[in-house]
Amino acid sequence: MDIKNLIESFEKLYGTSSEKIRFFTAPGRVNLIGEHIDYCGGYVFPAALTLSTTVAVRLNGTDKINMAATDLEGIFTCDLNDIEAARNLKWGNYQAGMVKELKALGYDFSGMDMLFTGTLPFGSGLSSSASIEMATGIALCTMANNASDISTSNVQIAIAGKACENNFCGVNCGIMDQFASAMGKKNHAMLLNCAEISHEYVPLDLGQYVLVLANTCKKHSLGASKYNERRAEVAKGLELMNMLCGDSRDNLCDYTTNELEAVKDGFEDKIIYNRVYHVITENQRVKDAVEVLKAGDLVTFGKILCAANDSIRYNYEVTGDELDAMFDAAATQFEGGNVLGSRMTGAGFGGCTVNIVKESYVDEFIKTTGTLYTAKTGITPEFYVCSIGDGAREITG
Ligand code: GLA
Repeated sequence: MDIKNLIESFEKLYGTSSEKIRFFTAPGRVNLIGEHIDYCGGYVFPAALTLSTTVAVRLNGTDKINMAATDLEGIFTCDLNDIEAARNLKWGNYQAGMVKELKALGYDFSGMDMLFTGTLPFGSGLSSSASIEMATGIALCTMANNASDISTSNVQIAIAGKACENNFCGVNCGIMDQFASAMGKKNHAMLLNCAEISHEYVPLDLGQYVLVLANTCKKHSLGASKYNERRAEVAKGLELMNMLCGDSRDNLCDYTTNELEAVKDGFEDKIIYNRVYHVITENQRVKDAVEVLKAGDLVTFGKILCAANDSIRYNYEVTGDELDAMFDAAATQFEGGNVLGSRMTGAGFGGCTVNIVKESYVDEFIKTTGTLYTAKTGITPEFYVCSIGDGAREITG
């Protein structure tokens, strides 16, 4: 929805006022490689999309934050005197969680009306929730009563977003999605060191190739998925690695593949070993992938992405039938240089694959992949050619 229509919908919903309406936007992300290792202190390599969430915000002179979305019925309210009650909202707890986290940083808020709109498909592994958190976060920090007394960087807003998700929304996620949404840079991916929360931008120069997202259209639900279970498994894995190596490191990704190899017979539980194996080898793959990308070797980059998909599929086991069918459909086209690689992106159990496809082959790729996928699953998928955009910011109407 463009800004003019958004203002119209806003005023229809909340009425007119002499207060100014301001607009904030934050993107979703695609993760190119480094899956399920942000919470293990690993390297990840996401990029912000131009698909995004935008929010129109206006002070309302009350002590209530009203929230609505252009594709949802109703208005949901977070009472600034009882933010905890918003945990039970049918919609709006990401926003309420941000209010809570930012208040803890010292912000003082008055009531506001908010209307959200967006271009990100929900539940598709493209971080629609992080984009809501980051758009809300930028809005709140800008519109707070004491905004001019506090300076909060986008990185700090990302950290607040992770805390919001962990503490308020019950998802024990890592920092990747919020960071990518807050810190995205047009035509660049970012190599993010999740242990230190430091990053480096890497130009995403794909020559005659583009990134195509293939959406399985199987909704995933992070909370309901095995996400938190995997986190518990790798916590156990870290304990074991520390015990077997006689060390006390903070993160699984502080271990190398050689160190794991040296103690692998000490793992009695094959499942825990497989999880640890994924994490430690994935961290190495991210470093290798970024190196070859910087050297312009897209063919090897694509191969590393495929190896990452194998690992998340067979060792970490978070793909599921639909993502596997989508990858397998892409894999039938790997010969001949039209499709250089494919992998699932995001938390898994549904959502999207990301594919490196020759621009001149995109239509054919969509047709072939879509046909094979539907034949296997009975679901009609969606495809988006990615453009890589900037991070969370205020925009003008
Ligand atoms: C979700 C989480 C991230 C990350 C990915 C898997 O998107 O929000 O923190 O763990 O899954 O890489």
